Amino acid sequence: MLCPSNKFALKLNQYYVERVIPRKNSIYKAIREVSKVVTEVLHEVEAQEPRFISSLNETNDRFEGLTVKSQTEFEVVLYLNQMGVFNFVDDGTIPGCAVLKLSDGRKRSMSLWVEFITASGYLSARKIRSRFQALVAQSCEKCPCRSYVQLLTDTSEVRLRIRDKFIVHIVPAFRCAGLWPRSASHWPYSSTQFSIWPSPNQVNNVKNEGFNILSKESIYMKDKQASSEGDAWIMSFTEAEDHLLQNGTRRKCLSILKTLRDRNFDATPVTNYVLKSLILYECEKHPNEHEWSDEQTLGDRLNGILLQLISCLQCRKCPHYFLPSVDLFKGKSVQSLDCAAKQCWQLTREMLINSQCLDKL
Ligand code: CTP
Repeated sequence: MLCPSNKFALKLNQYYVERVIPRKNSIYKAIREVSKVVTEVLHEVEAQEPRFISSLNETNDRFEGLTVKSQTEFEVVLYLNQMGVFNFVDDGTIPGCAVLKLSDGRKRSMSLWVEFITASGYLSARKIRSRFQALVAQSCEKCPCRSYVQLLTDTSEVRLRIRDKFIVHIVPAFRCAGLWPRSASHWPYSSTQFSIWPSPNQVNNVKNEGFNILSKESIYMKDKQASSEGDAWIMSFTEAEDHLLQNGTRRKCLSILKTLRDRNFDATPVTNYVLKSLILYECEKHPNEHEWSDEQTLGDRLNGILLQLISCLQCRKCPHYFLPSVDLFKGKSVQSLDCAAKQCWQLTREMLINSQCLDKL
Protein backbone atom coordinates (compact mmCIF):
# COMPACT_ATOMS: atom_id res chain seq x y z
CA MET A 1 0.00 0.00 0.00
CA LEU A 2 1.17 3.53 -0.69
CA CYS A 3 2.32 5.54 2.27
CA PRO A 4 -0.09 7.12 4.70
CA SER A 5 -3.14 6.40 2.68
CA ASN A 6 -5.31 9.40 3.52
CA LYS A 7 -2.56 11.90 3.04
CA PHE A 8 -1.61 10.36 -0.28
CA ALA A 9 -5.24 10.40 -1.44
CA LEU A 10 -5.43 14.14 -0.76
CA LYS A 11 -2.15 14.75 -2.57
CA LEU A 12 -3.39 12.68 -5.50
CA ASN A 13 -6.47 14.84 -5.78
CA GLN A 14 -4.32 17.95 -5.67
CA TYR A 15 -2.06 16.45 -8.36
CA TYR A 16 -5.09 15.84 -10.54
CA VAL A 17 -6.20 19.46 -10.24
CA GLU A 18 -2.77 21.08 -10.55
CA ARG A 19 -1.04 18.85 -13.09
CA VAL A 20 -3.45 16.49 -14.86
CA ILE A 21 -6.20 18.95 -15.77
CA PRO A 22 -3.73 21.55 -17.13
CA ARG A 23 -2.20 18.77 -19.28
CA LYS A 24 -5.63 17.92 -20.68
CA ASN A 25 -6.42 21.57 -21.35
CA SER A 26 -3.17 22.33 -23.10
CA ILE A 27 -3.48 19.24 -25.32
CA TYR A 28 -7.09 20.10 -26.13
CA LYS A 29 -5.94 23.57 -27.22
CA ALA A 30 -3.30 22.00 -29.48
CA ILE A 31 -5.83 19.58 -30.95
CA ARG A 32 -8.21 22.41 -31.80
CA GLU A 33 -5.42 24.19 -33.62
CA VAL A 34 -4.30 21.17 -35.65
CA SER A 35 -7.84 19.97 -36.35
CA LYS A 36 -8.57 23.16 -38.30
CA VAL A 37 -5.61 22.44 -40.56
CA VAL A 38 -6.43 18.74 -40.94
CA THR A 39 -10.04 19.61 -41.80
CA GLU A 40 -8.90 22.01 -44.52
CA VAL A 41 -6.56 19.42 -46.01
CA LEU A 42 -9.21 16.69 -45.88
CA HIS A 43 -11.81 18.92 -47.52
CA GLU A 44 -9.44 19.40 -50.38
CA VAL A 45 -8.91 15.61 -50.56
CA GLU A 46 -12.67 15.07 -50.60
CA ALA A 47 -13.06 17.53 -53.47
CA GLN A 48 -10.60 15.48 -55.53
CA GLU A 49 -11.81 12.04 -54.51
CA PRO A 50 -15.26 11.68 -52.90
CA ARG A 51 -14.54 8.20 -51.56
CA PHE A 52 -12.24 9.76 -48.92
CA ILE A 53 -14.65 11.76 -46.78
CA SER A 54 -13.42 13.54 -43.67
CA SER A 55 -14.76 12.04 -40.46
CA LEU A 56 -12.94 14.37 -38.06
CA ASN A 57 -15.76 16.04 -36.13
CA GLU A 58 -15.92 17.62 -32.72
CA THR A 59 -18.78 16.40 -30.54
CA ASN A 60 -19.08 17.33 -26.87
CA ASP A 61 -15.57 18.82 -26.81
CA ARG A 62 -13.93 15.65 -28.19
CA PHE A 63 -12.66 14.87 -31.64
CA GLU A 64 -14.02 11.65 -33.06
CA GLY A 65 -11.38 9.23 -34.25
CA LEU A 66 -8.48 11.21 -32.78
CA THR A 67 -5.91 9.67 -30.42
CA VAL A 68 -3.24 11.57 -28.52
CA LYS A 69 0.19 9.99 -28.95
CA SER A 70 2.10 12.72 -27.17
CA GLN A 71 1.63 16.42 -26.45
CA THR A 72 2.64 17.23 -30.02
CA GLU A 73 1.70 14.06 -31.89
CA PHE A 74 -1.78 12.90 -32.82
CA GLU A 75 -3.38 10.16 -34.85
CA VAL A 76 -6.60 10.73 -36.77
CA VAL A 77 -8.59 7.84 -38.18
CA LEU A 78 -10.34 8.55 -41.47
CA TYR A 79 -13.30 6.19 -41.66
CA LEU A 80 -13.92 5.01 -45.20
CA ASN A 81 -17.48 4.16 -46.11
CA GLN A 82 -18.80 0.88 -47.38
CA MET A 83 -16.21 -1.81 -47.12
CA GLY A 84 -18.66 -3.90 -49.16
CA VAL A 85 -18.08 -7.29 -50.68
CA PHE A 86 -15.09 -8.53 -48.69
CA ASN A 87 -14.58 -11.33 -46.20
CA PHE A 88 -12.58 -10.55 -43.11
CA VAL A 89 -9.80 -13.15 -42.75
CA ASP A 90 -7.91 -13.24 -39.45
CA ASP A 91 -5.76 -16.35 -39.63
CA GLY A 92 -2.98 -15.10 -37.36
CA THR A 93 -0.32 -15.06 -40.11
CA ILE A 94 0.84 -11.59 -39.09
CA PRO A 95 0.23 -10.81 -35.39
CA GLY A 96 -2.43 -8.14 -34.96
CA CYS A 97 -3.28 -8.02 -38.65
CA ALA A 98 -6.01 -9.35 -40.91
CA VAL A 99 -6.78 -9.30 -44.64
CA LEU A 100 -9.89 -8.45 -46.63
CA LYS A 101 -10.59 -11.03 -49.32
CA LEU A 102 -13.08 -10.52 -52.15
CA SER A 103 -16.09 -12.77 -51.42
CA ASP A 104 -16.46 -15.84 -53.60
CA GLY A 105 -18.38 -15.19 -56.77
CA ARG A 106 -18.14 -11.42 -56.40
CA LYS A 107 -16.76 -9.48 -59.31
CA ARG A 108 -14.08 -6.97 -58.41
CA SER A 109 -15.84 -4.40 -60.57
CA MET A 110 -18.73 -4.51 -58.07
CA SER A 111 -16.50 -3.04 -55.39
CA LEU A 112 -16.30 0.67 -54.68
CA TRP A 113 -12.57 0.10 -54.17
CA VAL A 114 -11.91 -1.79 -57.39
CA GLU A 115 -8.47 -0.39 -58.23
CA PHE A 116 -7.11 -1.28 -54.79
CA ILE A 117 -7.86 -5.00 -55.10
CA THR A 118 -4.80 -7.15 -55.78
CA ALA A 119 -4.58 -9.87 -58.42
CA SER A 120 -5.26 -12.44 -55.70
CA GLY A 121 -8.45 -10.64 -54.64
CA TYR A 122 -7.31 -8.80 -51.52
CA LEU A 123 -8.27 -5.22 -50.73
CA SER A 124 -4.81 -3.78 -50.19
CA ALA A 125 -4.27 -1.48 -47.21
CA ARG A 126 -0.98 -0.40 -48.79
CA LYS A 127 -2.57 0.55 -52.14
CA ILE A 128 -5.27 2.61 -50.42
CA ARG A 129 -2.65 4.34 -48.28
CA SER A 130 -0.51 5.11 -51.27
CA ARG A 131 -3.43 6.70 -53.15
CA PHE A 132 -4.40 8.64 -50.05
CA GLN A 133 -0.84 9.90 -49.65
CA ALA A 134 -0.85 11.19 -53.25
CA LEU A 135 -4.18 12.96 -52.67
CA VAL A 136 -2.96 14.58 -49.46
CA ALA A 137 0.24 15.71 -51.20
CA GLN A 138 -1.84 17.58 -53.80
CA SER A 139 -4.15 19.00 -51.14
CA CYS A 140 -1.25 20.34 -49.11
CA GLU A 141 -0.16 22.35 -52.13
CA LYS A 142 -3.60 23.76 -52.78
CA CYS A 143 -5.16 24.36 -49.37
CA PRO A 144 -5.22 27.80 -47.69
CA CYS A 145 -2.92 26.54 -44.91
CA ARG A 146 -0.17 25.43 -47.35
CA SER A 147 2.43 27.77 -45.85
CA TYR A 148 2.49 25.92 -42.54
CA VAL A 149 1.61 22.34 -43.41
CA GLN A 150 4.01 19.84 -44.85
CA LEU A 151 3.51 16.20 -45.84
CA LEU A 152 6.32 13.98 -44.55
CA THR A 153 7.15 11.37 -47.17
CA ASP A 154 9.78 9.27 -45.40
CA THR A 155 7.29 6.40 -44.96
CA SER A 156 4.24 5.11 -46.82
CA GLU A 157 2.01 6.75 -44.22
CA VAL A 158 0.28 10.11 -44.26
CA ARG A 159 1.97 12.31 -41.68
CA LEU A 160 1.54 16.06 -41.65
CA ARG A 161 3.89 18.44 -39.93
CA ILE A 162 1.94 21.51 -38.86
CA ARG A 163 3.57 24.82 -37.93
CA ASP A 164 6.87 22.96 -37.42
CA LYS A 165 5.51 21.83 -34.09
CA PHE A 166 2.83 19.17 -34.41
CA ILE A 167 2.73 15.85 -36.24
CA VAL A 168 -0.63 14.42 -37.29
CA HIS A 169 -0.81 10.90 -38.67
CA ILE A 170 -3.97 10.35 -40.75
CA VAL A 171 -4.96 6.70 -41.05
CA PRO A 172 -7.55 5.34 -43.52
CA ALA A 173 -9.75 2.77 -41.76
CA PHE A 174 -12.88 0.65 -41.93
CA ARG A 175 -15.24 -0.04 -39.07
CA CYS A 176 -16.01 -3.72 -38.49
CA ALA A 177 -19.19 -3.42 -36.46
CA GLY A 178 -20.81 -6.53 -35.06
CA LEU A 179 -17.75 -8.64 -35.82
CA TRP A 180 -15.18 -10.07 -33.41
CA PRO A 181 -11.79 -11.32 -34.66
CA ARG A 182 -10.59 -14.87 -34.14
CA SER A 183 -7.27 -13.67 -32.66
CA ALA A 184 -9.26 -12.09 -29.82
CA SER A 185 -11.63 -15.03 -29.41
CA HIS A 186 -10.25 -16.04 -25.99
CA TRP A 187 -11.43 -12.68 -24.56
CA PRO A 188 -12.91 -12.33 -21.98
CA TYR A 189 -10.33 -14.33 -20.06
CA SER A 190 -12.62 -15.29 -17.19
CA SER A 191 -15.91 -17.12 -17.59
CA THR A 192 -18.40 -14.46 -18.70
CA GLN A 193 -21.32 -15.75 -16.72
CA PHE A 194 -19.77 -15.04 -13.31
CA SER A 195 -17.46 -12.21 -14.23
CA ILE A 196 -17.75 -8.89 -12.37
CA TRP A 197 -15.40 -7.07 -14.72
CA PRO A 198 -15.98 -7.22 -17.59
CA SER A 199 -19.65 -7.84 -16.84
CA PRO A 200 -21.67 -9.99 -19.25
CA ASN A 201 -23.36 -6.79 -20.41
CA GLN A 202 -20.04 -5.06 -21.10
CA VAL A 203 -18.79 -8.09 -23.02
CA ASN A 204 -21.92 -8.06 -25.19
CA ASN A 205 -21.65 -4.35 -25.87
CA VAL A 206 -17.97 -4.55 -26.71
CA LYS A 207 -18.41 -7.49 -29.08
CA ASN A 208 -21.40 -5.88 -30.78
CA GLU A 209 -19.49 -2.63 -31.19
CA GLY A 210 -16.69 -4.54 -32.93
CA PHE A 211 -13.36 -3.02 -33.89
CA ASN A 212 -11.59 -1.06 -36.65
CA ILE A 213 -9.05 -2.07 -39.23
CA LEU A 214 -6.38 0.48 -40.03
CA SER A 215 -4.17 1.05 -43.03
CA LYS A 216 -0.84 1.67 -41.36
CA GLU A 217 2.59 0.15 -41.10
CA SER A 218 3.11 -2.54 -38.49
CA ILE A 219 6.38 -3.52 -36.88
CA TYR A 220 5.33 -7.09 -37.75
CA MET A 221 5.26 -6.17 -41.45
CA LYS A 222 8.56 -4.33 -41.42
CA ASP A 223 10.65 -5.05 -44.51
CA LYS A 224 7.66 -6.85 -46.02
CA GLN A 225 6.05 -3.82 -47.58
CA ALA A 226 6.86 -5.16 -51.03
CA SER A 227 5.26 -8.56 -50.40
CA SER A 228 1.57 -9.36 -50.08
CA GLU A 229 1.83 -8.94 -46.31
CA GLY A 230 1.85 -5.18 -46.87
CA ASP A 231 -1.75 -5.56 -48.05
CA ALA A 232 -2.89 -6.52 -44.54
CA TRP A 233 -4.82 -4.27 -42.15
CA ILE A 234 -4.06 -3.63 -38.47
CA MET A 235 -6.81 -4.42 -35.97
CA SER A 236 -7.64 -1.68 -33.48
CA PHE A 237 -9.95 -1.80 -30.44
CA THR A 238 -10.14 1.82 -29.29
CA GLU A 239 -13.92 1.90 -28.78
CA ALA A 240 -13.87 -1.44 -26.92
CA GLU A 241 -11.09 -0.23 -24.61
CA ASP A 242 -12.80 3.08 -23.93
CA HIS A 243 -16.03 1.28 -23.16
CA LEU A 244 -14.32 -1.02 -20.66
CA LEU A 245 -12.61 1.87 -18.86
CA GLN A 246 -15.57 4.18 -18.51
CA ASN A 247 -16.64 3.42 -14.90
CA GLY A 248 -15.16 4.46 -11.56
CA THR A 249 -11.70 5.98 -11.38
CA ARG A 250 -10.29 3.97 -14.31
CA ARG A 251 -10.01 6.89 -16.75
CA LYS A 252 -8.74 9.15 -14.00
CA CYS A 253 -6.05 6.58 -13.27
CA LEU A 254 -5.04 6.59 -16.94
CA SER A 255 -4.90 10.40 -17.05
CA ILE A 256 -2.68 10.48 -13.95
CA LEU A 257 -0.34 7.87 -15.41
CA LYS A 258 -0.02 9.81 -18.68
CA THR A 259 0.81 12.97 -16.74
CA LEU A 260 3.37 11.18 -14.54
CA ARG A 261 4.94 9.70 -17.66
CA ASP A 262 5.05 13.00 -19.56
CA ARG A 263 6.66 14.81 -16.67
CA ASN A 264 9.08 12.18 -15.41
CA PHE A 265 10.22 9.97 -18.28
CA ASP A 266 12.58 10.86 -21.12
CA ALA A 267 11.84 9.56 -24.61
CA THR A 268 10.31 6.27 -23.66
CA PRO A 269 8.75 3.07 -25.01
CA VAL A 270 5.97 3.58 -22.42
CA THR A 271 3.32 4.92 -24.78
CA ASN A 272 -0.20 6.02 -23.87
CA TYR A 273 -1.32 2.72 -25.36
CA VAL A 274 0.96 0.69 -23.08
CA LEU A 275 -0.51 2.53 -20.08
CA LYS A 276 -4.06 1.92 -21.28
CA SER A 277 -3.34 -1.80 -21.74
CA LEU A 278 -1.87 -2.08 -18.24
CA ILE A 279 -5.01 -0.51 -16.75
CA LEU A 280 -7.11 -3.13 -18.52
CA TYR A 281 -4.96 -5.87 -16.94
CA GLU A 282 -5.31 -4.18 -13.54
CA CYS A 283 -9.10 -4.18 -14.02
CA GLU A 284 -8.93 -7.97 -14.48
CA LYS A 285 -6.90 -8.29 -11.28
CA HIS A 286 -9.24 -5.95 -9.37
CA PRO A 287 -12.66 -6.53 -10.87
CA ASN A 288 -14.78 -5.03 -8.06
CA GLU A 289 -16.18 -1.52 -8.45
CA HIS A 290 -15.19 -0.65 -4.86
CA GLU A 291 -11.57 -1.21 -5.92
CA TRP A 292 -11.96 1.71 -8.36
CA SER A 293 -14.18 3.94 -6.29
CA ASP A 294 -12.10 6.78 -4.80
CA GLU A 295 -8.67 8.37 -4.31
CA GLN A 296 -7.75 5.89 -1.56
CA THR A 297 -8.04 2.85 -3.82
CA LEU A 298 -6.66 4.84 -6.76
CA GLY A 299 -3.29 5.06 -4.99
CA ASP A 300 -3.16 1.28 -4.71
CA ARG A 301 -4.18 0.79 -8.34
CA LEU A 302 -1.49 3.24 -9.51
CA ASN A 303 1.07 1.39 -7.46
CA GLY A 304 -0.04 -1.98 -8.89
CA ILE A 305 0.13 -0.71 -12.47
CA LEU A 306 3.56 0.87 -12.02
CA LEU A 307 4.92 -2.40 -10.55
CA GLN A 308 3.41 -4.33 -13.47
CA LEU A 309 4.99 -1.85 -15.87
CA ILE A 310 8.42 -2.36 -14.29
CA SER A 311 7.98 -6.12 -14.63
CA CYS A 312 6.96 -5.82 -18.31
CA LEU A 313 9.92 -3.53 -19.05
CA GLN A 314 12.31 -5.94 -17.32
CA CYS A 315 10.89 -8.94 -19.23
CA ARG A 316 10.94 -6.76 -22.37
CA LYS A 317 7.45 -7.81 -23.27
CA CYS A 318 4.03 -6.19 -22.97
CA PRO A 319 1.22 -8.23 -24.52
CA HIS A 320 -1.67 -6.41 -26.23
CA TYR A 321 -4.79 -6.76 -24.07
CA PHE A 322 -7.03 -8.29 -26.76
CA LEU A 323 -4.34 -9.82 -28.99
CA PRO A 324 -1.77 -11.54 -26.76
CA SER A 325 0.42 -12.52 -29.72
CA VAL A 326 1.14 -8.81 -30.26
CA ASP A 327 3.99 -7.47 -28.12
CA LEU A 328 3.70 -3.71 -27.61
CA PHE A 329 7.46 -3.49 -26.96
CA LYS A 330 8.43 -5.21 -30.21
CA GLY A 331 11.11 -3.26 -32.03
CA LYS A 332 12.04 -1.17 -28.96
CA SER A 333 15.70 -1.15 -28.07
CA VAL A 334 16.87 -3.03 -24.97
CA GLN A 335 18.53 0.18 -23.79
CA SER A 336 15.32 2.21 -23.98
CA LEU A 337 13.40 -0.50 -22.09
CA ASP A 338 16.06 -0.72 -19.37
CA CYS A 339 16.19 3.04 -19.02
CA ALA A 340 12.38 3.26 -18.73
CA ALA A 341 12.43 0.45 -16.13
CA LYS A 342 14.88 2.47 -14.02
CA GLN A 343 12.84 5.67 -14.32
CA CYS A 344 9.65 3.80 -13.49
CA TRP A 345 11.25 2.17 -10.48
CA GLN A 346 12.48 5.54 -9.17
CA LEU A 347 8.98 6.97 -9.53
CA THR A 348 7.30 4.01 -7.83
CA ARG A 349 9.79 4.00 -4.98
CA GLU A 350 9.28 7.69 -4.39
CA MET A 351 5.51 7.23 -4.31
CA LEU A 352 5.82 4.32 -1.88
CA ILE A 353 7.93 6.10 0.69
CA ASN A 354 7.06 9.77 0.45
CA SER A 355 3.49 11.05 0.41
CA GLN A 356 4.76 14.58 -0.40
CA CYS A 357 6.51 13.40 -3.55
CA LEU A 358 3.65 14.31 -5.90
CA ASP A 359 4.46 17.99 -5.33
CA LYS A 360 7.52 17.57 -7.50
CA LEU A 361 6.48 14.82 -9.92
N1 CTP B 1 -8.98 15.07 -26.68
C1 CTP B 1 -9.99 15.37 -27.58
N2 CTP B 1 -10.44 14.41 -28.46
C2 CTP B 1 -9.91 13.18 -28.43
C3 CTP B 1 -8.87 12.85 -27.53
C4 CTP B 1 -8.43 13.83 -26.65
O1 CTP B 1 -10.47 16.51 -27.60
N3 CTP B 1 -10.36 12.27 -29.29
C5 CTP B 1 -8.52 16.11 -25.74
C6 CTP B 1 -9.34 16.06 -24.46
O2 CTP B 1 -9.57 17.39 -24.04
C7 CTP B 1 -8.40 15.34 -23.49
C8 CTP B 1 -7.03 15.82 -23.98
O3 CTP B 1 -7.16 15.91 -25.39
O4 CTP B 1 -8.66 15.69 -22.15
C9 CTP B 1 -5.88 14.92 -23.60
O5 CTP B 1 -6.14 13.63 -24.10
P1 CTP B 1 -5.25 12.38 -23.64
O6 CTP B 1 -3.80 12.66 -23.85
O7 CTP B 1 -5.84 11.16 -24.25
O8 CTP B 1 -5.41 12.39 -22.04
P2 CTP B 1 -6.54 11.83 -21.08
O9 CTP B 1 -6.24 12.42 -19.74
O10 CTP B 1 -6.64 10.33 -21.14
O11 CTP B 1 -7.87 12.47 -21.68
P3 CTP B 1 -9.37 12.14 -21.32
O12 CTP B 1 -9.43 11.53 -19.94
O13 CTP B 1 -10.08 13.47 -21.39
O14 CTP B 1 -9.81 11.18 -22.39
